Amino acid sequence: MLSREELIQEAFRAMENAYAPYSNYHVGAAVLTTDGRVFWGANIENASYGATNCAERSAVFSAYSNGYHKDRIKALAIVSDGDRIAAPCGICRQVLCELLDHHTPIYLSNGKDEKDTDIDELLPMQFSVEDVLR
Ligand code: THU
Repeated sequence: MLSREELIQEAFRAMENAYAPYSNYHVGAAVLTTDGRVFWGANIENASYGATNCAERSAVFSAYSNGYHKDRIKALAIVSDGDRIAAPCGICRQVLCELLDHHTPIYLSNGKDEKDTDIDELLPMQFSVEDVLR
């Protein structure tokens, strides 16, 4: 099973696959599953800008696409080449709120600074699946 540091290193490898010709801001993410598999994601931009997919959504969508739902997701690492650690954008927080358990560890790093967080910290006062499926 990968350690926290090793999962962060996986995310840095995923970051090399970023397609970011517009922002030149590179983000990588890696999902660790309970059986030790790793799913990578990178930010994939688009000329329409709005069709861009963030790295953490790419990674979590990849895990789900391979049959790993939140009960089998152990941790998520998100890294960037920015001067500050890349905290997930608002859209990603909403998506992660639905697709991860709220205390699943989320490791943020830019190679200089690191922070460990989770969805309950990143997204207080959630609007979630419980509000709609009642
Ligand atoms: N981006 C991510 O991939 N994840 C984040 O948490 C923040 C932003 C990407 C989207 C876009 O490709 C670039 O970073 C600049 O916004």
